[in-house]
Amino acid sequence: AFEVKTLLGTAGMVTLDPGFGNTASCKSEITYIDGAAGILRYRGYPIQDLAQGSSFLEVCYLLIKGRLPEAAELKEFADELRSNAELPEGMADMLDAFPRNAHPMTLLASAVNTLSAFYADSVNPQDPAQVDLATTRLLAKLPTIAARIYRNSIGEAPIAPDPSLDYVENFLNMTFGSAKPEGEVGELFAKAMDLLLILHADHEQNCSTATVRVVGSSQADLYGSVSAGINALFGPLHGGANQAVLEMLEQIREMGGDLDAFLAQVKDRESKTRLMGFGHRVYKNFDPRSREIKGLARQILDRQERPDELFELALKLEDKALADSYFTERKLYPNVDFFTGVIYRAMGFPTSMFTVLFAIGRLPGWIAHWREQLADPATRISRPRQLYIGPGERSYPGRA
Ligand code: ACO
Repeated sequence: AFEVKTLLGTAGMVTLDPGFGNTASCKSEITYIDGAAGILRYRGYPIQDLAQGSSFLEVCYLLIKGRLPEAAELKEFADELRSNAELPEGMADMLDAFPRNAHPMTLLASAVNTLSAFYADSVNPQDPAQVDLATTRLLAKLPTIAARIYRNSIGEAPIAPDPSLDYVENFLNMTFGSAKPEGEVGELFAKAMDLLLILHADHEQNCSTATVRVVGSSQADLYGSVSAGINALFGPLHGGANQAVLEMLEQIREMGGDLDAFLAQVKDRESKTRLMGFGHRVYKNFDPRSREIKGLARQILDRQERPDELFELALKLEDKALADSYFTERKLYPNVDFFTGVIYRAMGFPTSMFTVLFAIGRLPGWIAHWREQLADPATRISRPRQLYIGPGERSYPGRA
């Protein structure tokens, strides 16, 4: 469906490839996707195996360092993150000063950008020790920043990181505090959160990762490059889709739950309505992550006393879309975001925090790509060409 043209323009021989659908911008060893077969592997390991056998921190290590850690290495890695989880002095005041009703993604990107102001000792891409320090600080502090943004938004006092807890438990504790469920449900939520982070951890040259690479190619520091990636992720066609799916389901419910009417609206090109959580640039078959997530959604929502109305609606909507030639002809299937929202909602997160959770998951991928690009001798500054289609030279009007 993509049109790629090689044209001779004023720029010489250039390829016109809108959205870069057919353009590889780099070589990478990190993530393999076969969109037609629905295959996703991190550093060679199938996503299903990692989802079953690994923790999110292990996957962070794998993506960034290229191999799975030994038990002692993983402990050291986790301890390092624990001891760096506090916010820098001054950042808490900065976060508290933002408007309470601002979108958490805007605040997250701003906070990450200012890490380079608080930590000027780790902004030099040419110094490997500084890059390692920035890597640790980002991984350690992003959950703390995210939790503080959430607590501020609901007018509750922040909760400091607890070094006795593991990465995901600590994030849930800083977010929900005493409202966090204990026992079996608490464990299930922590396991679910860990799994969702693993499934979001990398996806080769998606919009936000490509952004991190483009910004990093100018040798901007890691904090600034990741902040740019967070802003790219915020868009509803990318990470913002998880929020958009929930809003879409709520809108359908308000319309009386008429799925046929909604799908007719999607198919009416004039309406510019999309079925959010469906479609993918690379997957032209099932997104393997969406299968894992659907199973998780069942596990969590089946435990609730009453059936979850929005989950039921999502299941019916999925069935109807998959039986509709509009979607099958265009190879539109549920993507990673179709069912994540209903899970996050069941766990107690407000819609506006959904994309923040995606950002916490995608962080190791962004870092791994930024570092891989830095180490690659073939790296050049990202600088696409264009085909100029504006007017030729015009004579400048004489002024009276
Ligand atoms: N609903 C209805 N129609 C769609 C959808 C959708 N979700 N997605 C694509 N289409 C249609 C397009 O209208 C187009 O139809 P046409 O050939 O008749 O003109 C055709 O399918 C191809 O669509 P493109 O926009 O060219 O596909 P592209 O690869 O550029 O876009 C994208 C991929 C952005 C994911 C798109 O499918 C979309 O907007 N999906 C909804 C948003 C979403 O869920 N995003 C999350 C993606 S996963 C992630 O980033 C984490």
